[in-house]
This record gives sequence, structure tokens and C-alpha cells, in this order.
Amino acid sequence: MIRVRDLEVNFDFPVLKGVSLDIEDEEFLVILGKSGSGKTVFIKTVVGLIRPNRGEVSIDDISVTNGEPKELLKARKNIGFVFQGAALFDSLTVFENIALPLREHFSLTKKEIKDKVKKSLELVELEGVEKLYPAQLSGGMKKRVAIARAIAYEPKYIFFDEPTTGLDPETALKITKLLKDLWKKIKGTFIAVTHDFGFTEEVATRIAWLKGGRFEFVGKVNEFKKLDVKEIQAYFVKTF
Ligand SMILES: Nc1ncnc2c1ncn2[C@@H]1O[C@H](COP(=O)(O)OP(=O)(O)OP(=O)(O)O)[C@@H](O)[C@H]1O
Ligand SMILES: [Mg+2]
Repeated sequence: MIRVRDLEVNFDFPVLKGVSLDIEDEEFLVILGKSGSGKTVFIKTVVGLIRPNRGEVSIDDISVTNGEPKELLKARKNIGFVFQGAALFDSLTVFENIALPLREHFSLTKKEIKDKVKKSLELVELEGVEKLYPAQLSGGMKKRVAIARAIAYEPKYIFFDEPTTGLDPETALKITKLLKDLWKKIKGTFIAVTHDFGFTEEVATRIAWLKGGRFEFVGKVNEFKKLDVKEIQAYFVKTF
């Protein structure tokens, strides 16, 4: 379980104004909010990539925010992160991209690494691409490789920053289905940030709506739909 308490992040202005949330094991939480509302900042702070000005995050009772590098490293082994836009290393092959976190943070043999890379590529339904470079992949394939990299070491919590953004509608639907199947198959805890309500309706077991630096709503999809707020109606407008 991830516990977030009173999280405040300020840059030149306040982005998160004291947010609290419990993320339960094995849920598929979708965080909605308009562009610039602080969704990426929120998940990056939860995984320890951004230091908050105030507040606490703990992941299975390991504190992410107390500043102890050892603790943070321990928590990180349980976290996968798929960045907005994939963030693959262009100079590394698909195999090397996926193997990198396995080599850096786990003591595994060459064979174990090879097997884990193979297994994670199978899980994202992308096989035989180990030797290709990111420049040789389509946008949808890059997303799949980024997902494979995040699941290769079998973390308990996986964060997805805008998993369907920037893809054509058909590819976006395929990624949506892939994440839904993957979540069922590996029984992980998935946390995704998006504007894509089609994706949200398909996968979310719970929604958290970020607005004005706070969670304005946390609950089920059907309860969210019932809220009589103009901004929410905008989420239902199909973008394709
Ligand atoms: N490292 C940073 N330094 C300064 N300001 C930042 C930094 N990261 C984010 N911000 C600002 O914080 C605000 C929230 O940014 P964030 O990237 O979390 O938005 P978002 O909800 O993810 O938007 P989008 O949907 O467009 O990805 C923005 O105004 C952004 O400019
Ligand atoms: Mg973002």
C-alpha cells in the first residue's frame, strides 16, 4: 500500500497544495486532471523523483520522503515507471534498454537477465525486436518497450504517465487493452495518469481527479460521471 500524506510541491507557484491519498494493493487507479494540473509532478513525487516541500510518502511502510538514499533504493525496487513519451535510450537496443534496470539494481546472471527480457517482451506482445534501436520502432512499439522495461523486474507498483497520449486511436485502443490484460495477468498495482476517458472507463477501478492542487474527487468511475461539473463533461467528448 502507498500512503501519501499532506504532500506539498511548490515551484515558482504551488502545484500540489497538501494532497493525501491511499493507493491500495492490486487496484488500477487512474489520475485525471487537465494539462498542467500537476499529475506528472504528483506521481514523480510519489516515487521519489521530486522532493516535496512538505508531506510524506511511504510505500509498504518504507519512507520515500525522509531523504535516506538506502530507503529510497529499497522502495524503488518495487516500482516501475513508464514515462510520458517512453524515454528510451536511443543509443541502446531494445534488449539493452530493458536489461538496464535489471543490471543496475539486481544481482542476476546473464541468463536470468535474458529470460526476464524475453518474458517481459512476451507480456507486451512484442517479440523478436531485441536487436532493434528505438529509432527503428513505431510510437506504439516504443510504448510497449517502455512498458516491458518497467515490468521486467516484476515490481509491485507500476506507474504510467499518459500511456495512450500521442498514439493514433487504433494504437491507443491496443495499448488500453494491453494494460487491462497485463494488470489482470500480473496482479500488480497500476497507477496511470491520463486525459483519455476511453482508457479510464475501460481500465480504472478508481479515479482520482486532480484540480487546483488538490484531489477534488476520489472514487468509482460511475460516481465520477454523475458529478454535475462542466469540466467533467469535457472528458466525455471523444477526441477521435
Ligand atoms: N521541474 C519543474 N520545475 C518547475 N516547474 C515545473 C517542473 N515540473 C513541472 N513544473 C510545473 O508544474 C505544473 C504541473 O506540471 P505537470 O507536468 O505535473 O502537469 P501535468 O498535469 O502532468 O500536465 P500534462 O497533462 O500536460 O502532462 C506545470 O505548471 C509545470 O510547468
Ligand atoms: Mg504530465
